[in-house]
Amino acid sequence: MTVYTASVTAPVNIATLKYWGKRDTKLNLPTNSSISVTLSQDDLRTLTSAATAPEFERDTLWLNGEPHSIDNERTQNCLRDLRQLRKEMESKDASLPTLSQWKLHIVSENNFPTAAGLASSAAGFAALVSAIAKLYQLPQSTSEISRIARKGSGSACRSLFGGYVAWEMGKAEDGHDSMAVQIADSSDWPQMKACVLVVSDIKKDVSSTQGMQLTVATSELFKERIEHVVPKRFEVMRKAIVEKDFATFAKETMMDSNSFHATCLDSFPPIFYMNDTSKRIISWCHTINQFYGETIVAYTFDAGPNAVLYYLAENESKLFAFIYKLFGSVPGWDKKFTTEQLEAFNHQFESS
Ligand code: PMV
Repeated sequence: MTVYTASVTAPVNIATLKYWGKRDTKLNLPTNSSISVTLSQDDLRTLTSAATAPEFERDTLWLNGEPHSIDNERTQNCLRDLRQLRKEMESKDASLPTLSQWKLHIVSENNFPTAAGLASSAAGFAALVSAIAKLYQLPQSTSEISRIARKGSGSACRSLFGGYVAWEMGKAEDGHDSMAVQIADSSDWPQMKACVLVVSDIKKDVSSTQGMQLTVATSELFKERIEHVVPKRFEVMRKAIVEKDFATFAKETMMDSNSFHATCLDSFPPIFYMNDTSKRIISWCHTINQFYGETIVAYTFDAGPNAVLYYLAENESKLFAFIYKLFGSVPGWDKKFTTEQLEAFNHQFESS
């Protein structure tokens, strides 16, 4: 039996200007454009392998070692679009094997907690769509393929690119202009680093789709956000990235996280994604920036209580000195830092 296979990894992306609200729930078309930073492949990522052969009897999906339903509408939409593109190729070149007609076996694995506000669906759908696009050897550009990933999970379209990514909301009703584009590569601003503080790895109780629907239907603040706040912020943040202006990038990132969670609170009934620990982390970040007299850290929270902190490599010891003081008793530091670095964190305050 000839089995065709392809494997890819897709990293998590964390929005610094949040996508929150759908204007079309079927096509996952957003009510606003968004911006994110794609994390390194070495950190949070999904690894997906796709295989196809004429003998396969049905489409199957294994997720983190467990069989998973593939019958949901979003996955089906992605598979349909990918098969359609492959079919177009096959109709132009009769020598190609008819992969578009065969069933798929997909195996996917995350190296981080699923559905705990760590953008697992983004990496998941990005990896699923890229693995099949690779298997089918589709000639389309990354932005074009991102339109398909978008139908799986909106934010997934941004995980197809590394670095700093914009998802342009587009205007068209069929969504052909709603796709991801790269603002800058990670090598353009390599000093940027991200750190995830896992406050809880329990599955969230209001999914992002449910949450968005509720916010769009009930929040007055949301209207103000999409009409006046986000369009301005999108331009300011894009410019800050291109100009490597961390202070502006950080301020806009923190304000946007706060604005998004404010619209959740303004939904009715209200949605709470952050918990008391999340709120304490926000206060600490402001304290850290005040303490050093400059903005060295930015926080952002997705639809869950976990914090993602952005900072520049040059400020790592200043930031970690604080975090180490607060969370030094939590195990795992020795895996990430040398004894000398940990000692330096301890001495940071004495020299400041
Ligand atoms: O793509 P979804 O449906 O998982 O929604 C993502 C929503 C946020 O993570 C809160 C914001 C974003 O832009 O990623």
